[in-house]
Amino acid sequence: MEKKKEIVMSGIRPTGFLHLGNYFGAIRNYVKMQEQFECYFMVADLHSLTTHPDTKELKTNVERVLAENIACGLNPEKAALYCQSHVYETSELYLYLNMLAYKGELEKTVTFKDKVRQHPENVNAGLLTYPVLQTADIIIHKAKYVPVGKDQEQHLEMARNFANRFNHRYGEIFHEPVAYNDNNAALVKVPSLDGAGKMSKSENGMSTLFLSDEDEMIRKKVMKAKTDSGPTQPNTPKPDYIDNIFGLMQLVSAPEVIAKFEADYNNCNIRYGDLKKQLAEDMVNFISPIREKINSILPDKKYLKEVMEMGAEKANKSANATMKLVREAIGLKYY
Ligand code: TRP
Repeated sequence: MEKKKEIVMSGIRPTGFLHLGNYFGAIRNYVKMQEQFECYFMVADLHSLTTHPDTKELKTNVERVLAENIACGLNPEKAALYCQSHVYETSELYLYLNMLAYKGELEKTVTFKDKVRQHPENVNAGLLTYPVLQTADIIIHKAKYVPVGKDQEQHLEMARNFANRFNHRYGEIFHEPVAYNDNNAALVKVPSLDGAGKMSKSENGMSTLFLSDEDEMIRKKVMKAKTDSGPTQPNTPKPDYIDNIFGLMQLVSAPEVIAKFEADYNNCNIRYGDLKKQLAEDMVNFISPIREKINSILPDKKYLKEVMEMGAEKANKSANATMKLVREAIGLKYY
């Protein structure tokens, strides 16, 4: 018999417009993991209601995030690619877990405190219990590995606490999920084009390369990256903004090309205009097939519906099995 694969689960917020940082930091790893593990990749549409109660754009955003992830190589035939709201039992498990989650610990969550600071007018209970819903997402599939960034580690720690608390009170059903990244994804740095920090959605749009950017936009953004008049001493350490340009090259350019520019830099005859032109073309070659794929998937509503249905079926099968055990363990079974 085939050995049972370990279970991976992660949630993707439907904020749309994925960028290069999302690709190298997360999606590329999902794509690898789908070959090795039983994967559940979920669009966190319910979580988005905690901060975006207006749902006018929700459908468009959900379709975009699905299309973008598929265009990057997530295969809905391999992984379960589904929407959180299509697994009703997640909400049920969330309710049970809420009885085991204390106000004090929820109020201490860093992401909650940030949201309170940013939007003091919308401190709703859903926001407070956000990590409880996230725990339900994960443990409903009895997932072991959760590929997430550093900012989610506290939520994962809370998930372990809630899972253990459930087990102690009602019986051993869940195991502890841990944050996990294949191939040291966390170490891959995708620097912003303005020389400071990482690429991110909320940053200035001109310093982030989106997977849906047109070729001309990619070139324009890369050519605007900050440089200077170049080193005057051989083997000078690179300033951050130059190091970042080389860092981006590492992601998309051929090793010989990088070696040539490294040598030019160290010999003080680098031409930054040429460096950026090269990077721009390599970025165009990397991003344009993904963008074309996104654009071909997005209008295909029938396909997107099939993807969601297929994902929901797989996710519900796994969730149903767990919830049967959960209800019995709690004692919610009277005949
Ligand atoms: N909170 C995660 C984020 O902000 C998204 C998310 C929702 C998630 N449910 C999850 C991540 C379950 C991992 C597992 O990115």
